[in-house]
Amino acid sequence: MEPSYGTYSWFEKSFSAAQEDPWLNNWRGIETCRYEIVENIVKGLIEHEIPGGNKISMLDIGCSTGHFTNVLSKTCENIVGIDISDTAIEIAREKYPKIDFRSADFQKIGLPENTVRIAVCMEVLYYIEDESKADFIEKISKVLVDGGYFILTTLLGEKPYFTDDGIVKIVSDKFIITDIIYYGSKTYSNIEKFIFKIYSRSVKLEHLIKGDSDSGIEDPQKIKGIERYLGLMKRLKMMTAVLKVNSCIEAVAKMIMHLRFPAAIMNRVADRCRLDRTHIILVARKR
Ligand SMILES: C[S@@+](CC[C@H](N)C(=O)[O-])C[C@H]1O[C@@H](n2cnc3c(N)ncnc32)[C@H](O)[C@@H]1O
Repeated sequence: MEPSYGTYSWFEKSFSAAQEDPWLNNWRGIETCRYEIVENIVKGLIEHEIPGGNKISMLDIGCSTGHFTNVLSKTCENIVGIDISDTAIEIAREKYPKIDFRSADFQKIGLPENTVRIAVCMEVLYYIEDESKADFIEKISKVLVDGGYFILTTLLGEKPYFTDDGIVKIVSDKFIITDIIYYGSKTYSNIEKFIFKIYSRSVKLEHLIKGDSDSGIEDPQKIKGIERYLGLMKRLKMMTAVLKVNSCIEAVAKMIMHLRFPAAIMNRVADRCRLDRTHIILVARKR
């Protein structure tokens, strides 16, 4: 039986199938862009808003295999990464042995209250059941010191994702939102989906040819056809193209984010251009 969305078994299955990075977050342009902006927000908070310099304590909730926890660890000495997936945490510990990683469901782990200065929770909340979302946010607020900061990133869209008003409402109960940054659009997502579809088809075909998976195709003519198709695709060339498109998109996304339009202007531009905004970053201070 397929495990249900967002459960421990669902994440374990995702991590064991993909080994390391199920969402390709560590190299997709839109994601590295998100990491960069959040890293800059954290650096800004440490420099201007939060006393304690690099001695402050930080929490990365839903840290996956630790890629971004490692980035954050360069800004402060005291960081803890938490993830529900044992497999993810095992990989994280192996890659970054100096960082304190804990394998636990954030909703259940007992953490001392009023101790953390910055909590980051990226692309996690849409896995939490609706009736537990408010508790999840409340728990983050409890572990933070007074005046501590919370940075949340999430996809916007149909359920399980959020509307921008919806996510602002959930967070506002326990936090004062100090900044909202939009990035990403439907256009970007569609281009990306298209590229990944072609790429994963070529990978699948290659497995079929190599006999790694059972295609059920026996007709030598058909197999020849597939081989010809594969030859045309020249996977290597394909990858180069993917990476090129990816870095162009990354450059554009970075440009937009570095301009840091106030949310109101971004909203107006997105509405005018009929762009569906697909990603949001919230920066919030504990009430
Ligand atoms: C889409 S990944 C995001 C990873 C990383 N934060 C990023 O932005 O690239 C979501 C991560 O949240 C973790 N996660 C989901 N529910 C969790 C929970 N209740 N407690 C701790 N981690 C959780 C998953 O195991 C997964 O690694």
